[in-house]
Amino acid sequence: MIEIPQIFEIIKDSNTPPHIKNDYFERATAQLNRLGKLLDQLLSEAKEEMAYRWKPKKMQILVDSDESLFIYTDGSALYRIVTNLLSNAIKYSYENGKVMISAKEKGESVEISIEDHGIGIKEKELPRIFERFYRASNCSQTGAKGMGLGLALVKHLCEILNAKISIESKYTLGTSVTVLIPNSK
Ligand SMILES: Nc1ncnc2c1ncn2[C@@H]1O[C@H](COP(=O)(O)OP(=O)(O)OP(=O)(O)O)[C@@H](O)[C@H]1O
Ligand SMILES: [Mg+2]
Repeated sequence: MIEIPQIFEIIKDSNTPPHIKNDYFERATAQLNRLGKLLDQLLSEAKEEMAYRWKPKKMQILVDSDESLFIYTDGSALYRIVTNLLSNAIKYSYENGKVMISAKEKGESVEISIEDHGIGIKEKELPRIFERFYRASNCSQTGAKGMGLGLALVKHLCEILNAKISIESKYTLGTSVTVLIPNSK
């Protein structure tokens, strides 16, 4: 694999044609995205970004992950997965609700779970929730707004990362989504 310092040399070289520069610029960006990131930091940033959603509902978001756990994957894709799942956990929770984001190492992978104690999803509707534009009947009951696109995007991003996603839910009690991400350099 061509390393970032070499890529910068090629980009800096005035003889490199612009379209080649663009190509190398994209390669450098992709490599930087894959650099190891402190998972705890990524999860805490996602929590802070969503503060405008959970603070007005007086919710508590707990992050439980090993402070030294590094993740080697596309960080921006993972960040979008986490913010989308957190968005759902907040949206489909009651006021004063609690959400737990936890991360732990599982062999060569890292497992991230987002668990809420919100309105839950009826068992017979679970198989469809990753479909584009699908919204379960719990939305009409609560008036929660959305397009039904978040989980379709999450599923797509998981495929890109080679990650496995699973969901468990008990109607009226809460939902837990788990993502298992390969963590090899
Ligand atoms: N944590 C959750 N608790 C209860 N229901 C959920 C949860 N996450 C998803 N759902 C159900 O699955 C459906 C699909 O979720 P998805 O994130 O794709 O769409 P959305 O949240 O309705 O809209 P968008 O994400 O586009 O704003 C939701 O409409 C909701 O019925
Ligand atoms: Mg959503």
